[in-house]
Order: sequence, then C-alpha cells, then structure tokens
Amino acid sequence: MIRTPFIAGNWKMFKTKAEAAAFAEEFKGLYQGTDVKAAICAPFTDLDTLVEAFRGTGIGVGAQNVHFEPSGAYTGEVSVGMLEEIGVDYCIVGHSERRQYFAETDETVNLKLKALLAGPIQPIMCVGESLEQRDAGELFDVVRRQLTDGLAGIPEADIRRVVIAYEPIWAIGTGRTATPEQAEEMCAFIRQVLIELYGEDAADEVILQYGGSVKPANATEIMNMDEIDGALVGGASLKPADLMAIIDF
Ligand code: 13P
Repeated sequence: MIRTPFIAGNWKMFKTKAEAAAFAEEFKGLYQGTDVKAAICAPFTDLDTLVEAFRGTGIGVGAQNVHFEPSGAYTGEVSVGMLEEIGVDYCIVGHSERRQYFAETDETVNLKLKALLAGPIQPIMCVGESLEQRDAGELFDVVRRQLTDGLAGIPEADIRRVVIAYEPIWAIGTGRTATPEQAEEMCAFIRQVLIELYGEDAADEVILQYGGSVKPANATEIMNMDEIDGALVGGASLKPADLMAIIDF
C-alpha cells in the first residue's frame, strides 16, 4: 500500500484574516505542481478566507476543534454542520492543548470523531504521551488507551478516513523533537493497534503523522521513516517558505 504523504499545518491561535489571506497568496504560488497533500488548520475566523483562497489549488483547509452536538446552548462552540457549510476538509480532534486546557477527554474525542465521520470532513485525531508518562514507561499504554477509547464504535469503513497524528507532548513547541526512531517506534505501535482493531487492510490505509517541533531541518529524516506518512506542523507552518520546505522534504 502506497500512502500519499500528507503535511498539515496547525496554526493554533495565530493569524488574523488579513494575515491568513497574505499567507495564502504566497503559499499558493509555492505549492503549485507538488504531489504531497497539504492542508492548513486555522482558527475558525480564518476558515472562509482560506477556503476561498485555496479553491482549485488542491490545498486543504482544516479547523482545530468542533463540538459534537449538531446545535444547542453551547456558548462559544462551533458545530460540524457549520464547518461543512464553510467547506473545510479536515478537523483536528483531541490535540494535547485541548486535552490539557479545555478538558478534552477520550470520550469527547470519540463523540467528535463520530459527528465528523457522519459527513465529509476528515478528522485528524491527535494522540501522545507526556514526559512523565514516557519516563514511567507508560507511553504505549497511554497511546493504546487513547486509540481504543477514542475510536470506540467507529467502524472499519470509517477508519480509513481518520488521520492519526502522534504528538508526544514533550516535543510540542519545545524545540525538542522526538528522534526519528522514537517517532517511528510509536507509529509502528499505532499501526499494530489499528491492525488489532480493524485488520491489516484497513490499518494499512490509515495516514499516520508525526507532530512536535517539525521543521525544514528535520523533515527529511522524519518523513523517510516507514510508518510515518506525514507531519502535523505547528510553529514552522506559520511561514509559507518553511512549510513548503517541509512539504518538499
Ligand atoms: P510545534 O511544531 O510548534 O512543536 O507544534 C506541534 C503541534 O502541536 C502541531 O499540532
């Protein structure tokens, strides 16, 4: 199975609409003719700007969060239907920053995945251990639980549309990248858990990304790993040239 490499930027809470439009203008020109898939996951307020700017370019647009209910009294939240209407292609679910600061749990991750998978938007599901969990030797137990609880009840037909991003918390925004071997070891483990849950054929199709201090200087060695099909890029996705250098790994 040849999986198409997929590099997604996660802007987090950066860039106004005007800044997003300027980024898109520059990035569109750089991306032309590339066969690696690319997407930008942006703040809600930038999504319509990016969908318009990237129309016809093959560059995808993603949200960074969604609520699992279709509508209701949930102040500050945005529904799957609202994202579908704007025309976004992807939505990050369960990012460690949302787990840490906004009470995201494996249970809400599961509800969000199911809500997204009922429609066309592809989820990017984040998993990953903290430094304490790694040092205590719990890293595989933690990621196995995030996968089994997060994916509970999601059928084989849908798992192929879920992108899974392994983001060790200790490597996010710290400049401390996991070694390619550490990233590969966990991605191989994730693939193994997917085989147990869904069988070889379906597991083989799932795109696995690594995230955590990915930059132009380390993209090649990370992307050359067998089980790593892509990257979820934070800081380095804010500059068109840096993101493009990663895509050109
Ligand atoms: P950095 O690339 O800034 O470490 O962020 C990684 C991340 O959290 C992407 O979702």
